Amino acid sequence: MKLIDKYNRAHSYLRLSVTGNCNLNCIYCNPLTSDELISKHSLSNQEIIRLARIFVTLFEFSKIRLTGGEPFARKNIIELFEELSILKKEFPFELAVTTNGTLLNGKLKKLKELGLDRLNFSLDSLIPERYAQITGKNVQSKVLHTIDEAESEGFLNTKINTVVIRNVNDDEIPDFIEYSIKTGRNIRFIEYMPFSNNGYDKDGFISSKELLNTINKSYKLTPDELDAGFVAKDYLIKNTNARISFISPISDHFCGLCNRLRITADGKLKLCLFSPHKTEIDLLNFIRNGFPDEQIKDSISNALLEKDFAHPEIDDLIQLKNNDIISLGG
Ligand code: 5AD
Repeated sequence: MKLIDKYNRAHSYLRLSVTGNCNLNCIYCNPLTSDELISKHSLSNQEIIRLARIFVTLFEFSKIRLTGGEPFARKNIIELFEELSILKKEFPFELAVTTNGTLLNGKLKKLKELGLDRLNFSLDSLIPERYAQITGKNVQSKVLHTIDEAESEGFLNTKINTVVIRNVNDDEIPDFIEYSIKTGRNIRFIEYMPFSNNGYDKDGFISSKELLNTINKSYKLTPDELDAGFVAKDYLIKNTNARISFISPISDHFCGLCNRLRITADGKLKLCLFSPHKTEIDLLNFIRNGFPDEQIKDSISNALLEKDFAHPEIDDLIQLKNNDIISLGG
């Protein structure tokens, strides 16, 4: 059965947060000043597999992305991949992960064997000292090394996420473009979003449009005809093989085509990155109370009927409580 909401959007993509912990303290996500919000309850591997199985088998989901916190900060993450790989052999789906890439050295070969299909890396600065200022740790070289390792292990379509913040890293845009031209790696510039506890500074916001205009002064960008996705708008840089993308959740949201659902690290179903707390259902509680699959399935279908057509505008997003990105996974 396809999971279709009242706006006729078929959902097929699950973003599953496997931990609320992270080894970094990025200023836009998990700043050192944020409250300690990590929930005591978190899904066990067995519970994650149970939920993944429900989405893949009962709702025909075709893609699962593990997020965090930092997924590789979870202790038994390799065992989780082992279990997911068994599920994937039985019911094929695309398995992806979003990671900061700092805890992955030496693990990529194994992950490839276990059926991980794609990796997205977060990298907000090419300058090591600035990377350390943004993330709180001087570990940029590990990330770059891991991206190289992913490529040599044969991971295709690896992407780099860069959150652009005015007066923080916006002066590095040309460097990121040169990096993309040099390496052929797809950089995705993401608009800076407000979340509870991320100390949002509205002045830091730069719209994708502004960014595109600035870039166009020095490079010739053309929309990529092969652009398959709807979240990232892809552009090719003229006379190169490089592709860069813009993700504009704030200025040009892609809610109309949304096909995603999220599960937080403590097992709550989130209809949207910015959905109100009251629409969440506690899947972990259902599992621990022995609900059968059919009952969980019905609760998810019913919950989806509450999904709004679009998330609110930025001024309302800034007011949202209990919406910390660290347990949602971006
Ligand atoms: N604004 C935009 N993107 C964010 N992410 C986390 N916090 C924010 C934010 N405030 C994104 C990062 C990271 C992914 C996990 O979530 O790009 O790559």
